[in-house]
Parts: sequence; structure tokens; C-alpha cells
Amino acid sequence: MFFVSFVVHAAVSVRAQSPAEQVFKNIQVLKGIPVDQFMATMNVFSAATGLNCTDCHTEESGGDWAKYADDNALKQRARAMVVMMNTINRTNFGGRQVVTCVTCHRGVSRPTVMPSLDLLYSELPPEEPGDIIAQAPRQPSADQIFDRYTEAAGGVSRLSAVTSLTGNGTFVGFDEAEKTPFELAARAPGQRRTSVRGRSGDTVTTVDGRSAWMVAPLSDRPVRLTEITGQELEGVLVESRVLFPLQMKQALTWRVGFPTVIGDRDVHVVQGTTAGGAVVTLCFDQETGLLARLVRFWDSPVGRVVTRVDYDDYRDVDGMNVPFAWTVTWLGGRSIYQLSSLEPNSPVPAATFTR
Ligand code: HEC
Ligand code: HEC
Repeated sequence: MFFVSFVVHAAVSVRAQSPAEQVFKNIQVLKGIPVDQFMATMNVFSAATGLNCTDCHTEESGGDWAKYADDNALKQRARAMVVMMNTINRTNFGGRQVVTCVTCHRGVSRPTVMPSLDLLYSELPPEEPGDIIAQAPRQPSADQIFDRYTEAAGGVSRLSAVTSLTGNGTFVGFDEAEKTPFELAARAPGQRRTSVRGRSGDTVTTVDGRSAWMVAPLSDRPVRLTEITGQELEGVLVESRVLFPLQMKQALTWRVGFPTVIGDRDVHVVQGTTAGGAVVTLCFDQETGLLARLVRFWDSPVGRVVTRVDYDDYRDVDGMNVPFAWTVTWLGGRSIYQLSSLEPNSPVPAATFTR
């Protein structure tokens, strides 16, 4: 959606966790956050207003990261909007982040003033699971839902015998016509490395169980190595356990909401909050017991950053039931991973998860 192709200008070599204002040239309001979180705020801007990166930046920024520092009218307006949004939340809602760019804009650059008569008399789209829920009455316990999941995924003895997985398959991004190869290596409980082949180089995302980082070509990201930080990291650490279902139950303290529907499937909704405040929601297919969706979000300075993973194509691998396809949808794009082969317990050297 918001992808543009870049001519690599100059390699930015600054420590990955430096605040954005030390990495970029012209940061006036979104100060004090690391690069990964700063770039996430840009995705919130785009998603909220329906504007592309190059709308709020100059046309030339499409080919050159340095040009993103230049200002234009929309960019300056956006800065003023951040200040306005913070003032609204502070003066009306005790500083809680309840009004964000999304609240008013809902995907358009000029918020609608006209009440929609069509909307008033049409059926609303179904609610997307992922928002904060409370424990609901008369639901199965989280333990029961996880135990059923364990059974459906292969049972305790089979699952505890599998300590690593390696596989490969194809990857396709939103709006991309061509599939490219990707490789996966994982070790229980939560180490994972995915490597996606790209035209200008590989994008490698590594989760070592405590930290996570992404190495991508400078044509795709303003820095070569992006450290994944804060609440985003906490969500990623939970997500990386999905390949080893026995490890999910202990990841968080879970609450169970009312069941809902995804497509034509009834699902149980289980949710937990990480120590730092990220919210992770799991949706289990009521019929199969298997994990159908994971949604996680965290609060950036300008609004929620949400990521969803839909799991599909469960197949038997030596008595285990593993999703061979998963679709990751986030504010900046959508990626579809399809495994063609998966090998349990093949040796994965520890160096796979080091920098
Ligand atoms: C609604 C307008 C808007 C959209 C859309 C937007 N940006 Fe920004 N961008 C800004 C503003 C405002 C700043 C400056 C923030 C500040 O001063 O704190 C900025 C700053 C940046 C910077 C730092 C440049 C520097 O060196 O100072 C980069 C890089 C950037 N944006 C990339 C992107 C990318 C990539 C996208 C698309 C995913 C995007 N932006 C979408 C408004 C926008
Ligand atoms: C309280 C509601 C509200 C919030 C919150 C809000 N906006 Fe706006 N925004 C508006 C309205 C209304 C307009 C159009 C004003 C007009 O027509 O002159 C606007 C205009 C804009 C424009 C100019 C669009 C154009 O085509 O001229 C940009 C860019 C923008 N907002 C970005 C943002 C960003 C980024 C955020 C979050 C930091 C945000 N807004 C939060 C109400 C809001």
C-alpha cells in the first residue's frame, strides 16, 4: 500500500536504539522514541489519513530517505495535529490516549462532516477481535481452551518432543505480483528467524527469545538494522511462540471474552496483557480447537499500532498439526507466508539467532 522504491543514498550507520531525533534530521514533535516506534507512527499517519508516505513528504522522498526531512504543507499540518490531539486528550480525558488520528480521520485526509445516511441504514461490518476485553461470564477457562489447543496440535507428548523446526516456502507482499522464497528456522520456546529473498537483498527478522531485530535493504528501511523495542517487542515475543503451542499458555495471564466469528468460523477469544502494556488476543476455532488468529497492539504516541496474523492450512507433520500458511497484516502492509516443507527436530545452530 505505502511502498515506494528507493535509490539507496547514503548508509545511515547510527546505533539502532538511538532516539529517532538522533537518527533523522528534522524531528520536532515525535521525540524520544526509537526508530522502530517512530516508523510505526508513520504507518499510523498513513493508515489514519489515507495519505501515502510521499503525500506528506516531498515527491523526491520516494527515491531518497534524506528527502524525508524536507517539510511540506501536509507534513506541517500533521505536526500541528499531533499537538492538537495531545491537548484534547490532556484537557478532556485525563491524558488517556482515547482521541487519536484514527478517531477523527477513519482513513480519509479530510474527516467527514456530513452524517452518512447510507451508514445509518446499513448493517455495520462485524467487529474485529483485538480490542481490550474483560473476562466474560460462563465461558470455558483459558486453561481448558489451551488444553484443547494442545490436543488438537498433537498432544503433550508429541509436542514436547519437538524442539526445533526448519522449513521453506514462498512469500508474497501486498500488491506484489511475484512470490519470492523464504526460509524459517525456529527453536522452542520462542526463537525464530525468517529470511525473505528480495530484489535488492534479503530481509531477515530474528527473535532470540529476549530481543528481536530486523535487517533489511536500505531500499526498504531507512536504517539497515532496526531493533524491535518496547511493547512491540513484547508482542513479537509472544507471537514467536506460536510454532510451539505448549509454550503459549505460560506466555501471559489470559482472560476469556465472549466468543465471536471470523469469516464463517466460531472462535473463542482469549486475551492477555504484557508487563509493558501490549495486548495480545488469540482466537481459537471452536470446531477444531486450533489457533485461527493472533492480534496484538500497542499504543504509539499517535495511536494504536495493530498487527494481525491469520493461521491457515494446518497440516500433519509427524503427528503434529502445524499451520503451513499465515498472513500477517499490519498498518504498513500485508504478507502471506506459505510453507512448502517443514522439518521437525533438524539441527538449528545457536548462531542462527545471534547478531
Ligand atoms: C500525515 C502525514 C505523514 C504521512 C502520511 C507520513 N509521514 Fe513521515 N513524517 C511526518 C511528519 C509530521 C514528520 C516529522 C515528525 C516530527 O517532526 O516529529 C515525519 C517524518 C518522517 C521521517 C523523518 C525524516 C527526517 O529525517 O527528519 C521519515 C523517515 C518518515 N517520516 C517516513 C515516512 C514514511 C516511510 C511514511 C509512509 C509509511 C510516512 N513518513 C508517512 C508526516 C507524515
Ligand atoms: C479531533 C479530530 C482530529 C484529530 C484527532 C486529528 N485530525 Fe487531522 N484533521 C481534522 C480535520 C477536521 C481536518 C480538516 C480540517 C479542514 O478541512 O480544514 C484535519 C486535517 C488534517 C490534515 C490535512 C488534510 C488535507 O488534505 O489538507 C492532515 C495531514 C491531518 N489532519 C493529519 C492528522 C494526523 C496525522 C493526526 C493524528 C496525529 C490527526 N490529523 C488527528 C481532524 C482531526
